[in-house]
Amino acid sequence: MGATIHRSHRCLSMRNTFTRAAILTVIMLAIGGIFLQSDMDVQSALARTASSAREAILLQKPMSASESLGWGGPGTTSGNQGGSSFMAEGTAAISNSSHTMTCDYDMEKLRKWQQQFHLEETFEYTKRYVQVARRDIPRKSVTELGQDFLIDAVKVVDVNKQYHPEACPAPLVAPVSKSSLPSTANASDFIFGVSTTYQRFTDPRTSPINEWSYWLTDGKGHSNGGKLVLLLLNATDDELGDAGNQLTNVGIDVDVYRSDPNLVMAVRYLALVPTLYQHPAGSSRKWLVICDDDTFFPSFHALADRLAEYSYERPMYVGTFSEDVNNIQRHGSQAFGGAGVFLSVPVAKIVSEKYDSCRTEEKILESNTGWGPQGDIILRKCIYENSEVKLTLLHDLWQLDLFGDPSGFYESGIKPLSLHHYRGGIWHVAHPWHYTKVAHVCGEDCTLQRFQTADDFVIANGFSVAYYPRGIDFDLGQFEATFHPAPEDRGWNLDYKLGPQRASLHKTGRKISWDLQEAAVNADGSVTQVYVRRHDDWRWTNPDGTPMNSRDGIIELVWLPDA
Ligand SMILES: *[C@@H]1O[C@H](CO)[C@@H](O)[C@H](O)[C@H]1NC(C)=O
Ligand SMILES: *[C@@H]1O[C@H](CO)[C@@H](O)[C@H](O)[C@H]1NC(C)=O
Ligand SMILES: *[C@@H]1O[C@H](CO)[C@@H](O)[C@H](O)[C@H]1NC(C)=O
Repeated sequence: MGATIHRSHRCLSMRNTFTRAAILTVIMLAIGGIFLQSDMDVQSALARTASSAREAILLQKPMSASESLGWGGPGTTSGNQGGSSFMAEGTAAISNSSHTMTCDYDMEKLRKWQQQFHLEETFEYTKRYVQVARRDIPRKSVTELGQDFLIDAVKVVDVNKQYHPEACPAPLVAPVSKSSLPSTANASDFIFGVSTTYQRFTDPRTSPINEWSYWLTDGKGHSNGGKLVLLLLNATDDELGDAGNQLTNVGIDVDVYRSDPNLVMAVRYLALVPTLYQHPAGSSRKWLVICDDDTFFPSFHALADRLAEYSYERPMYVGTFSEDVNNIQRHGSQAFGGAGVFLSVPVAKIVSEKYDSCRTEEKILESNTGWGPQGDIILRKCIYENSEVKLTLLHDLWQLDLFGDPSGFYESGIKPLSLHHYRGGIWHVAHPWHYTKVAHVCGEDCTLQRFQTADDFVIANGFSVAYYPRGIDFDLGQFEATFHPAPEDRGWNLDYKLGPQRASLHKTGRKISWDLQEAAVNADGSVTQVYVRRHDDWRWTNPDGTPMNSRDGIIELVWLPDA
């Protein structure tokens, strides 16, 4: 793996389809399970369609218990017996949203999703509205809603058929804090430096444009004051111009330069510091930030607030360790750059002045841990050998040196200040730009916040909807070990940062989840999220290997803004 262990843009040659192939293989093995649920067309008894959240609440009638979910649950109901469609007490406190709710079957949309997500033509489809209720309350890792997630029997749709519209069930009501919206972030204290290649910048699988637009603009095409300095390895003038145009077009304040292909990668990384320091925009900023092209800042207000606790006039070197203690033993005690490294101007000055002596052959050699020269190490040595400054740990930054299914991290109710390694290859695949869409309707705190329903569903907002058919008899306060550290797993590599993790529920029949694939902010300010589950997902089998559900499934959540 060479130097790829923690600098994603160093693994160009590693970008392969290995992970995908492995997953496909497992999927193939999982096919042939038992069909647990009989065919059941959409019930169209309820042809009336509520026109608003408020009307839907008024329209609600008590229903008999739901039909079998067919997902391995012990009984035949969705949890709470009887009257489950009624709002929990406190209906009167529900915000008075007049947003239109529609629960018809838009077959064009469903067909598009079926193809986009490679589902079978017949699949389960559940649509649910969630009314955001912004209150003067702190963010909770998990909030119990007291309402059922499932109201009726699960609908099965065939993309070749048509269905009558139905009344929308009353929305779930999600109390959340009044955290700031991404559109109001002010990043003018920050200048960011990223080094990558034009190929990675333009490849749809690795292009960071959407992600950058989240934390460098107001989401409406205007800069939020943050400055980006992008270095493209040996790019042509045309490529530099094209990259600059693409970023400027989405509102990002950017300068694009060519980086010298004759420098070793670790030195190109170190060179970001003098590049930012000497940049005309650099000296007026408080923080010079070095990150990777797959570093993401989900909550910019929170990040800026946290950094405001440090005195930027003093030399400050702020970052975080790898989660894997092996990587600290292997590479040393320094900021692991993919999580973001924050340098105050006085530290950037030191590195810039000592740049030439920090990048000699000897220093390059000293930064080679056997995994190739490491940029993070060269930077640490440059600072430590030329000053008394030591790293300040900011634990809410995440390098994410995790392998396998990342669900246990994203479903932990966490509010991370950075994310990394989410573009697949040897690392995990995640879609943080989509995950954070919901923050536009309910504030930054809302992203990845969990909502637990009375019938044992947990919405990890933006990431997944998980159902626990045997109940939630484990500690939601602990990370689920769905992932594992890099090779040389001693069983406790990650514990110093994550705490000991609870056992994975993969293949136990106790958990089944729909993972977010896409989200969008709608014209009316609501946010639509599309969560998808494949019937042959290797994770969701019973202990005997049979699939928990023989059908694919989509859950569509629509988050309604507070009145
Ligand atoms: C709810 O909305 C209706 C119609 O828009 C309005 O007449 C009523 O005063 C509102 N009630 C509250 C509590 O806001
Ligand atoms: C953003 O922050 C800068 C520096 O702290 C300040 O000068 C500026 O007025 C702020 N902009 C807005 C729109 O609040
Ligand atoms: C840089 O790009 C040019 C073509 O634009 C190519 O000829 C040259 O070999 C490249 N240099 C390196 C070191 O990759």
